[in-house]
Amino acid sequence: ADLRELYQEVIFDHNRNPRNFRRMEDAHRHADGYNPMCGDKVTVYLKLDGEVIGDVSFQGSGCAISTASASLMTEALKGKTLAEAERLFHAFHAMVTDSEGEPRAGLGKLEVLSGVREFPARVKCATLAWHTLHAALHDEKAPVSTE
Ligand code: FES
Ligand code: FES
Repeated sequence: ADLRELYQEVIFDHNRNPRNFRRMEDAHRHADGYNPMCGDKVTVYLKLDGEVIGDVSFQGSGCAISTASASLMTEALKGKTLAEAERLFHAFHAMVTDSEGEPRAGLGKLEVLSGVREFPARVKCATLAWHTLHAALHDEKAPVSTE
């Protein structure tokens, strides 16, 4: 299978069987995010063990790309420090958008993973969970939008 098929399978799998998809009653931090283009919403929950993310989960209703991106994000975050999570957010953001916040061209595998190549508007789907994570890291109470 070529890379692209592989990544499409990853999206399919994480959308059908999202990891860490649950409400967390005893979260230390959480934040709500929404995509104004479609109205989809996500909540990200963090449980901290000192500076380390001991547990992370998400809930919400979103398209396949936003769900798969959130699921992959939670897997990447477990056991990371808050500072490492912050760096991951910035790395992901820089990878999918240019300095104007527009979808970046020529992204390689992440472009395929996020579906951005076929649908540039869908960069907001791929970044929804990450923006919400960022708000949770900063303990922001107001819902964040992807714009
Ligand atoms: Fe990077 Fe939060 S410190 S924007
Ligand atoms: Fe709503 Fe993707 S279409 S988050």
